[in-house]
Amino acid sequence: MGSLSNKRVLLGVTGGIAAYKSAELIRCLQGQNAEVRVVMTPAATEFITPLTLQALSGNPVSLELLDTAAEAAMGHIELARWADLILVAPASADFIARLCHGEGNDLLSTICLASHSPIAVAPAMNKHMWGNTATQKNLHQLREQAVHIFGPAAGYQACGDIGEGRMEDPANLCSMASALFATGLLSGKKVVITAGPTREALDPVRYISNHSSGKMGYALAQAAAEAGANTVLISGPVQLDPPERIKTITVESAMDMLTAALNAVEGADIFIAAAAVADYRPASVAEQKIKKSDDEMYIELVKNPDIIATIATLPLRPLTVGFAAETENLEFYATKKLHQKKLDLIIANDVSDSSIGFNSEDNRVLLVQPGSSKSLPTMNKVLLANKLIEHIAALLPSSTLQTPQP
Ligand code: PMT
Repeated sequence: MGSLSNKRVLLGVTGGIAAYKSAELIRCLQGQNAEVRVVMTPAATEFITPLTLQALSGNPVSLELLDTAAEAAMGHIELARWADLILVAPASADFIARLCHGEGNDLLSTICLASHSPIAVAPAMNKHMWGNTATQKNLHQLREQAVHIFGPAAGYQACGDIGEGRMEDPANLCSMASALFATGLLSGKKVVITAGPTREALDPVRYISNHSSGKMGYALAQAAAEAGANTVLISGPVQLDPPERIKTITVESAMDMLTAALNAVEGADIFIAAAAVADYRPASVAEQKIKKSDDEMYIELVKNPDIIATIATLPLRPLTVGFAAETENLEFYATKKLHQKKLDLIIANDVSDSSIGFNSEDNRVLLVQPGSSKSLPTMNKVLLANKLIEHIAALLPSSTLQTPQP
């Protein structure tokens, strides 16, 4: 079973008597370490107050599409990007119909339209509404649109009927949400990932480095672990907490990272280099702090070893995946690096755009492999990491892959 660690769940609450259960659902999701934000439809506020859900989620509840103050704080597009999962619980028959037909006439339906993240709905309605042909047709179409349908459960209903249509129990909804992130695609596989910058010391207090935050590499490590891989993360100095369930080795310099990578790669099926490794290091490191003397100062640099190229030439090499940080001619330079470093796949990102690439929440990448390329749209690094892991898993020889869990 997967966990919701580091996952951002946007809980959509629509109008129905089961809306009171969304309070418990927030607690369950938080119990699995998810960060929860709530969006309510106007009808939902008739059943439970926004204040209750705000107090429980610890975040302001979003209600209106055309509210300038709310849009300025966190607009519908930002909310759509923020979410790793949109879970609509309870989902009324009316909301299901509107989602199915792509309507954007309130905040929640607009966010669903604008999101690339998985959407799950937990239907809750009277058994006759559930059984109605129109509702069933809408659900059929939603399934075809890859929307997950969680439940419903059967039993006593608020209206006195007994039958199918009760909202699934919050604990079960949490397990179903968590299972969406646990694909089992890499069960039994070992994945080694490098992340963050390296620091190349000049003296005891100064170094050469770059702006890599480690977010891309850490998200990949999390996604690999959620896909069932035994994951080793080799991280340069970053401000992120070591991820759960992942062996994290911290290093400073490119030379340290190379040593750690060569040790960790034994028995690995996949090696992914997301780290921004310094290409050069000072030829010598001063033992004491360098004193200010002349007006000009020159630093002699020597080339660092290329970590991923070293891994790619090992006799028992894993599937080897690099990143290419480029500021122009993305595909051209990425293809060049793919061949020069003898990689199976290179993930190119345009680091001249500050909204993606270094130290940003989002990224937009071009996947380049021998003979083909494919671009992915801008998305949150966590969501992107899941898509990249899916793509990378498909490159493994099929005989070595596990059958994914349903
Ligand atoms: O950490 P974030 O803030 O989330 O930012 C993510 C990122 C922009 C750092 C990431 O997406 C990225 O592009 N990482 C690679 C950065 C880089 O150094 O690219 P490059 O084009 O210079 O190197 C190509 C590949 O060779 C990379 O896989 C790199 O890890 C590897 N390399 C480079 C030099 C070296 N000495 N050894 C290496 O292994």
